[in-house]
Amino acid sequence: MRGIFILHNVEYYYTRGSVKIPALRGIDLTVDHGDFVALMGSNGSGKTTLAYLLNAILKPSRGRVFSCGCPTDEKDKILEIRGRVGLVMQNPDSQIVGPTVEDDIAFGLENLGVKREKMIRIVTEVMDRLHLSHLAGREPHLLSQGEKQRLALAGVLAMEPQAIISDEATSYLDPAGRRDVLDYLVGLNREKGVTLIHITHKLEEALLAKRVLVLREGNLIFDGSPGKLLREEALLRDMGWSLPPLIRLAKLLREKGIPVPPTVLSPKELVEAICP
Ligand SMILES: Nc1ncnc2c1ncn2[C@@H]1O[C@H](COP(=O)(O)OP(=O)(O)O)[C@@H](O)[C@H]1O
Ligand SMILES: [Mg+2]
Repeated sequence: MRGIFILHNVEYYYTRGSVKIPALRGIDLTVDHGDFVALMGSNGSGKTTLAYLLNAILKPSRGRVFSCGCPTDEKDKILEIRGRVGLVMQNPDSQIVGPTVEDDIAFGLENLGVKREKMIRIVTEVMDRLHLSHLAGREPHLLSQGEKQRLALAGVLAMEPQAIISDEATSYLDPAGRRDVLDYLVGLNREKGVTLIHITHKLEEALLAKRVLVLREGNLIFDGSPGKLLREEALLRDMGWSLPPLIRLAKLLREKGIPVPPTVLSPKELVEAICP
């Protein structure tokens, strides 16, 4: 089947008493295997709901969702989907379950019946990569918010998923920690072909993706490359997203008659455009 995620005319409503609260409307979308997609939108625009639909935590109120080739409305496919699609949530407390850091990371592997030796190897590697080794025996509730966020990510990475959805999962990290985690996720995408859906409020982070999706009030209002998004000045203004310094600089140079192509997104590309 083409696409790791396929949505056909998907609607989602939450219900509060007899009131229906629409969260997603008429979404048609295919995400290719190995793609890196940034998902943006204001608070309440439906980003988390979409993440939950992809991971089969929620079933669409209308339409169909296929994840990793499986329809998410078929009960016996749900565990398979959750094993293949790792979701790192906004609030790490909601996904930490183990009594210690290392037990927590091993939890999903234990459920799958992975052999002890392999489990120890994976947990050790993941702790090392996310700078958690010194906290192996610590109770998760004693961790800082940033450490909890790295732990939640570690539990997902240990499962070696085909796709990772990070739902503002770097929001509690300091800039260096944020950059480190994001670089790691991007590395998994580039080197191992793990599909990455990165939900973020930061335009700089979205510009690293190959494709950007923007939700507004449950509607998909933009779907295109980062370069195309930067040309949508009215949309950027509406969403309150100011251009990153590098993009502003490229624009000012262009206004001075220096031919900087609109595809320039990184310092290296800018230097090459000015000094070929
Ligand atoms: N459990 C819930 N019950 C009722 N309404 C909800 C619930 N979760 C989200 N919503 C509503 O659904 C809409 C989309 O929310 P959400 O997907 O969390 O947006 P985002 O992640 O973009 O902030 C919002 O209007 C929100 O208030
Ligand atoms: Mg959210």
